[in-house]
Amino acid sequence: MNPTRANPWLEDPNANPIDPDPWHPHRATIGRIDRELDTPSSSVFTLEILLEPSPYADAYRFSPGQFNMLLLPGSGEVAISHSGPPTDRSFKTLQPGSFLHTIRAVGRVTDALEQLQVGDSLGVRGPYGTPWPMPLLIGQDVLLLSGGLGMAPLRPVLYAIQNHRDDFGRVDLLYGSRSPETILYAAELDTWRRWGIGVETIVDHAQDPLNENSQDTAPWVGPIGNVTQLLDRRESLGDYPDFRPERTQVLVCGPEIMMHRCAQSARKLGIPAQAIWLSMERNMQCGVGYCGHCQWGPLFLCKDGPVVSYDLAQTLLEIKDL
Ligand SMILES: Cc1cc2nc3c(=O)[nH]c(=O)nc-3n(C[C@H](O)[C@H](O)[C@H](O)COP(=O)(O)OP(=O)(O)OC[C@H]3O[C@@H](n4cnc5c(N)ncnc54)[C@H](O)[C@@H]3O)c2cc1C
Ligand code: FES
Repeated sequence: MNPTRANPWLEDPNANPIDPDPWHPHRATIGRIDRELDTPSSSVFTLEILLEPSPYADAYRFSPGQFNMLLLPGSGEVAISHSGPPTDRSFKTLQPGSFLHTIRAVGRVTDALEQLQVGDSLGVRGPYGTPWPMPLLIGQDVLLLSGGLGMAPLRPVLYAIQNHRDDFGRVDLLYGSRSPETILYAAELDTWRRWGIGVETIVDHAQDPLNENSQDTAPWVGPIGNVTQLLDRRESLGDYPDFRPERTQVLVCGPEIMMHRCAQSARKLGIPAQAIWLSMERNMQCGVGYCGHCQWGPLFLCKDGPVVSYDLAQTLLEIKDL
């Protein structure tokens, strides 16, 4: 198996353009903090991060799907995907040196990141990893499948598509969440619909079983189940008449089992494995292919991923506990 087939952008010299010294964290400050979710089961926030002026900051560009290593001295370092901002025609960020990260507080480092205030400092290394295959999406229909926090690395794709809407065919987002209260970027969904993106949401539970206040929110009238069901329904109801599997690219991000099931469903709809892209996560330490912590079969996901084609991922996903 040839790891370089994971993503054609590995061949692109601009895909990972900067930082001659990948071990060196760069100073940055917090420009803005948005609370995204505040439920007993989910604490999610978005940090706008501003790199301190330097040649690195001037050169900094990311492509949707890539990630940074965020360093808090005394706590540690974590891999976090870019969740914005919008990108320009070359799918690189417009504002050099600033970007967004949406983070769920789950442990030592992410809890410490949650304590940061506007103006506080942190270290940044990156951008790392393979991006979504944006050039392949041009002229194609695009189907985005997202589960939970998987929406964060997909949001820059929507921004990029909106910046050049005419370059893309039909664009749909099927988005699954545990409950209505945990739908990430809920306030943006109508904006995306106005951009001509078909947005469908589905939840596991109409009320969050872990949130005793969830009865106070408006009752959920949408579908209950998971994203795969939304996808399968397209086939069985025949309610998707202009669906063109031969010219559809599918981007999937969410829990591993969800991505595997979605990819299987997409295959049943006739979409080729090479047109299905998954964002794989493993514990990452160096981020640049040296330490081996992120190894997945023959791949080091920090550099051969996180975005890999299902063509390559399929056999690995079928190996139990890999
Ligand atoms: C390429 C990549 C992109 C990522 N993007 C984002 C993002 O955009 N937003 C975000 O909130 N998180 C993201 N993550 C996950 C994030 O890196 C982990 O949540 C973080 O490392 C946890 O560190 P911690 O010190 O806070 O928690 P720890 O104390 O290390 O762990 C707390 C719990 O989280 C689990 N955990 C640790 N690392 C991971 C991981 N990589 N995936 C799943 N569970 C993990 C541990 O097993 C443990 O149960 C990404 C991970 C990767 C590899
Ligand atoms: S994180 Fe070290 S090799 Fe990938």
